[in-house]
Amino acid sequence: VCCCYAAAVSPLSSADSTGDFLKCLAAGGLPSQLVVPWGSSSSVFTSIRTVQPICVVTATNASHVQAAVLCGRRYNIRIRVRSGGHDYEGLSYRSVRPEAFAVVDLASLRAVRINRRAATAWVDSGATVGELSYAVAKADPGLAFPAGLCPTIGIGGHFSGGGIGMMTRKYGLSVDNVLDAVVVDANGRLLDKKAMGRDHFWAIRGGGGGNFGIVLSWKVRLVAIPRTVSVFNIRKTIDQGAVDLVTKWQMLAPALPDELTIRAVVQSKQALFQALHLGTCNQLLPVMSSKFPELGVTRADCREMSWLESTLYINSGGTVTTPVEDLLNRTTSLGVFTKNKSDYVKKAISKASWEKIFPWFDAAGAGIIIMEPQGGRVAAIADGDTPYPHRVGVLYNIQYMSFWMDTAAVPDWIRNFYRFMEPHVSSNPRAAYVNYRDLDIGENAVVLGGVTSYESSRVWGEKYFGAANFRRLALTKGKVDASNYFRNEQSVPPLVTTK
Ligand code: FDA
Repeated sequence: VCCCYAAAVSPLSSADSTGDFLKCLAAGGLPSQLVVPWGSSSSVFTSIRTVQPICVVTATNASHVQAAVLCGRRYNIRIRVRSGGHDYEGLSYRSVRPEAFAVVDLASLRAVRINRRAATAWVDSGATVGELSYAVAKADPGLAFPAGLCPTIGIGGHFSGGGIGMMTRKYGLSVDNVLDAVVVDANGRLLDKKAMGRDHFWAIRGGGGGNFGIVLSWKVRLVAIPRTVSVFNIRKTIDQGAVDLVTKWQMLAPALPDELTIRAVVQSKQALFQALHLGTCNQLLPVMSSKFPELGVTRADCREMSWLESTLYINSGGTVTTPVEDLLNRTTSLGVFTKNKSDYVKKAISKASWEKIFPWFDAAGAGIIIMEPQGGRVAAIADGDTPYPHRVGVLYNIQYMSFWMDTAAVPDWIRNFYRFMEPHVSSNPRAAYVNYRDLDIGENAVVLGGVTSYESSRVWGEKYFGAANFRRLALTKGKVDASNYFRNEQSVPPLVTTK
């Protein structure tokens, strides 16, 4: 702890409070090797860091997390929690604003405990999506869990924001399948679903990470999966009809049988259609020739495999299926800078507009868009049942991605293209997905005394959650963390009313 102290005094906190915080951690039972200066612990992503944490606390049990919160509160050091470190704005380990904070890293808390008979599992927040999928399929190849595509995403942040993937249409978001959770709250207490109460349990299932305490573990419902699933990856150029295909895909994909998800990726003036079908090729091919004959899927395009293999296959863009042990690799292959934005589409974009959209992917610095269809189970759940409101009436989600190699500013392409898309996507508000974190859509204004204003946060909050859900989140925050201890540039502010 002493060496951490020497290396870690932040200009934003006094040496006294940092030192007291570190002594408090030691007194709380944290071995010195688990409290290290920032930089000596592995950083998942290279990021343009503005303010660095005073140290990283690698928790190996719940009491370490509780000690970090209690010591942080006592000595005015805030905590940012990191599970998989995949936050697109790096809010789990950097602060855009001057603030004294420590990172609690949950990477060592990553057990997955499966109850086959009950078809449930407890998964710790530090596990990755790949580790969860692998553990479930190895315990029972007839079971699976609906989550995002990238295997290195951390469960803690992913579940906190929703969790969209290739089985969302059949089984809903990850959070639609969360049954219980264990949280360390802003008072350092360990709470399960019953102890935290209805609103708090509602808020942690999609209300955004870093708001309502530190979730240590989640109990999830596992879903039934056939032993054989089928997949295809079909790429079409503009000359091969990409514009017509994407135009048709918009209404078709959300209305297909729930067992079939086809997502569309547009890049370099080409459209890639990636499908997961929870059944065999024999079952899939007649559906494709009756519903989407223009795509021309043939037997040669269709591949059968296990669901576990399909997660690797789809994430790799149709190249890799084995070894499935690759899913246990926690290192991301994304070695570049990235900027992401998101939209929801409720009314299909016309062919004439797509003809204007496609040339954007030929421009200098062009990125890609990934479009994920909704409908099915995700639309059968009411907007207010979880904080994730983008359900009935949504055709698909768009994720904008831009990649670049150096530390220069974000390329203009992504922001210009996002501006261009405004008339084609949802409005009032223009909706966004909190897991595709985007500080461009607004940041909290922190007024004197460290209080975040509710009014200022509505500008981004209602885009992510809708007006009613955002208000409920803020009221819940007012109940469970009235002093706004867990905060970041886009955290839900506490709203306290006398009514
Ligand atoms: P990280 O640890 O950075 O945390 C993200 C946020 O949650 C931070 O604010 C953090 O403080 C907070 N947090 C983390 N752990 C917490 C905990 N235990 N309790 C409370 N708060 C916690 N999404 C999707 O839905 N579908 C997809 O297919 C993909 N694909 C994808 C690919 C790649 C390459 C990236 C980088 C991201 C995605 N995402 C995604 C987005 C992903 O779901 C989102 O970034 C998650 O928040 C990442 O969770 P991590 O735990 O990895 O992030």
